[in-house]
Amino acid sequence: MMLRNIRVTSGHLQRQLRTSLNKSYPVVRSLATSADPAANPNRVHGGLKDQDRIFQNVYGHYGHDLKSSMKMGDWYKTKEIILKGDKWIIDEMKKSGLRGRGGAGFPSGLKWSFMNPPGWEKNVGPRYLVVNADEGEPGTCKDREIIRKDPHKLVEGCLLAGRGMNASAAYIYIRGEFYNEANILQEAINEAYAAGFLGKDACGSGYPFDVYLHRGMGAYICGEETALIESIEGKAGKPRLKPPFPAGVGLFGRPTTVANVETVSVAPTILRRGGDWFASFGRERNAGVKLFCISGHVNEPCTVEEEMSIPLKELLEKHCGGVKGGWDNLLGVIPGGCSVPVMPKEVCDNVLMDYDALRDEGSGLGTAAVIVMNKQTDMIRAIQRFSAFYKHESCGQCTPCREGTTWLQKMMDRFVKGQASEKEIDMIFELTKEIEGHTICALGDAAAWPVQGLIKSFRPLMVERINQYHNEHEPVQYGGWVKGGKVKEGKVIDNPIPSAHH
Ligand SMILES: Cc1cc2nc3c(=O)[nH]c(=O)nc-3n(C[C@H](O)[C@H](O)[C@H](O)COP(=O)(O)O)c2cc1C
Ligand code: SF4
Repeated sequence: MMLRNIRVTSGHLQRQLRTSLNKSYPVVRSLATSADPAANPNRVHGGLKDQDRIFQNVYGHYGHDLKSSMKMGDWYKTKEIILKGDKWIIDEMKKSGLRGRGGAGFPSGLKWSFMNPPGWEKNVGPRYLVVNADEGEPGTCKDREIIRKDPHKLVEGCLLAGRGMNASAAYIYIRGEFYNEANILQEAINEAYAAGFLGKDACGSGYPFDVYLHRGMGAYICGEETALIESIEGKAGKPRLKPPFPAGVGLFGRPTTVANVETVSVAPTILRRGGDWFASFGRERNAGVKLFCISGHVNEPCTVEEEMSIPLKELLEKHCGGVKGGWDNLLGVIPGGCSVPVMPKEVCDNVLMDYDALRDEGSGLGTAAVIVMNKQTDMIRAIQRFSAFYKHESCGQCTPCREGTTWLQKMMDRFVKGQASEKEIDMIFELTKEIEGHTICALGDAAAWPVQGLIKSFRPLMVERINQYHNEHEPVQYGGWVKGGKVKEGKVIDNPIPSAHH
């Protein structure tokens, strides 16, 4: 078994070694190996053992069909878990300490329990679990891996999470571009129906449960839970004002909970191995194992399952072959998808990958999409690209978001060239504060935070770019205005710097 822990850096070699090893050693799913945190409060997290991985097939070494997934432990004693009832399921999820993997990190057991307030039975009619498989956040590529390689974890998760919430059906909302993934998932759903795991008498438990797959059209905003609900209902994907929250009035006006693919897919293993097993990983309040998707300037970008609270440096060096050009060539890391602020290298040296540690450093775990940028990156340009993305994806309902994201993009376009005055750095910061917290949904915050992170950690770089521009061109005033600029019928004409106004 020792050999299974050897790190082989080539993907091809990894596959070969795994295939030959798996012939001699069946997949082992017993024996939790995490240390007791109470016995060793100073322990360093990370180094997840194979037998503690939930997503055994994340590298695609086995099939994604029902038979293969059952060999890996899926659908094992599902009926017995269903028969334990909603309260047992919710209590176990609460005990596990699982926090939602869709970005906000809200405790899942608590969130799911909102579906069962006292007297919920009196509100007769359908109730829904909606699974968010939109995965539009740039940098995030974990849910698609689950659907491609471990779809039965998600389908079984729908049934068990649905049982916990007393839901009658699950709708999986999958991003439109995921065409192949949608086919794989539909195949898995069909297999589960054919095996009697879903339907009027799911797993022979007497509990009726259906799973439907719904394809979106690829708009980022449709990942926001209420926009997603609108989209399933056949309307434009525009977020709803809350309250009422979906647990009260959700899909088709019925009680609904929206949960991320990863959140739902880890539920069956948690319920089989126990909430305490899951809670034994990671620091307090940051429990569990997690898929990290690492992209950018690392030698081997990958999606890997690791223990929560693993040091960022260890994550990159152990699983991604390190930063391109070495650790000292690191400029900054965005640890949770493009919505969270970038962290400079000094922070990356020691930070742990969990909700609280990253929040304490002014960033966030988000979707655990780790975007690595080395010193060859133009950081201002990188953040400007995000601003363009948010401007494009704003649904336009709220003025601070619609107008603010447009302003952010225009100003960031100029900051890339240095075509601005230094005071405008404070002005764009103030603008982000006018957007943050003043909108219907969190897209406004998501647009504001990357720019705030840039100013907090890379202000000297912005100032240097501005000074350089001023040295080489005419002095630039607010709004990119230059002395020779003329206005005719409200439009700037003959501006010596054409892109200042458009
Ligand atoms: C603009 C925007 C886009 C989002 N996109 C996604 C997404 O693609 N996938 C996802 O799971 N959650 C996304 N979310 C978060 C969801 O609104 C919701 O919080 C999440 O699906 C809840 O699942 P969880 O409790 O399992 O984390 C997005 C939120 C916003 C504001
Ligand atoms: S914050 Fe932006 S994306 Fe969200 S509802 Fe308002 S305008 Fe639409």
